[in-house]
Amino acid sequence: MPDSLEQISSEVRVCQKCPLSNGRVHAVPGEGPADAQIMFIGEGPGFHEDQQGRPFVGASGQYLEELLAGIGMNRRQVYIANVIKCRPPGNRDPEPSELAACQGYLDRQIELIQPWVIVTLGRFSMARYFPGQSISRIHGRTKRVGNVYYLPMFHPAAALRTPELRAEMGRDIRRIPELLAELAAARAPKPAAPPQADGEQFEQLSLF
Ligand code: URA
Ligand code: SF4
Repeated sequence: MPDSLEQISSEVRVCQKCPLSNGRVHAVPGEGPADAQIMFIGEGPGFHEDQQGRPFVGASGQYLEELLAGIGMNRRQVYIANVIKCRPPGNRDPEPSELAACQGYLDRQIELIQPWVIVTLGRFSMARYFPGQSISRIHGRTKRVGNVYYLPMFHPAAALRTPELRAEMGRDIRRIPELLAELAAARAPKPAAPPQADGEQFEQLSLF
């Protein structure tokens, strides 16, 4: 059977591949349309996400929705996922072994959705695409690989803690429409080769 987002979600909900399964109320697979052009990748579920089984439904999520509204979008138009699908106790950082255990689910989600723009929120998702980089240095600076853009941003929780980061968050997210426009142009089917001039066509036909 071909893979599907529903299949991944049902595996995640009962996953026991790492010890984070022990303390969770709900695993949080991620949500959004299968054909989303934009995918946000956060860190992992917090308290509210664990309670509800949905990503970014607490204060960080509200702020993410405000940022999206600023570019005329809402959360139902984008795919929202995390690098780790179960809440680490007390919201501690995920361990490398936990990230490794969970990575396959996000890989499969990305493979299915094939987003045009992948926005990483915070250090842990940034590390997938910008290993060894510092977020304060590279946030807002994109990387294009083929027809996909990667846009690293601060985590919304960081901007809630440090209000000076909010102007940068606003600037960074406003890059998305411009990136989509550029990719739309790059992905548009190339116009057919112009028809040959009549004279040339006639000459070729006349060979027969
Ligand atoms: N923070 C995250 O990184 N992910 C969520 O889903 C919620 C808060
Ligand atoms: Fe499975 Fe990921 Fe949850 Fe660990 S965090 S139990 S690997 S879904």
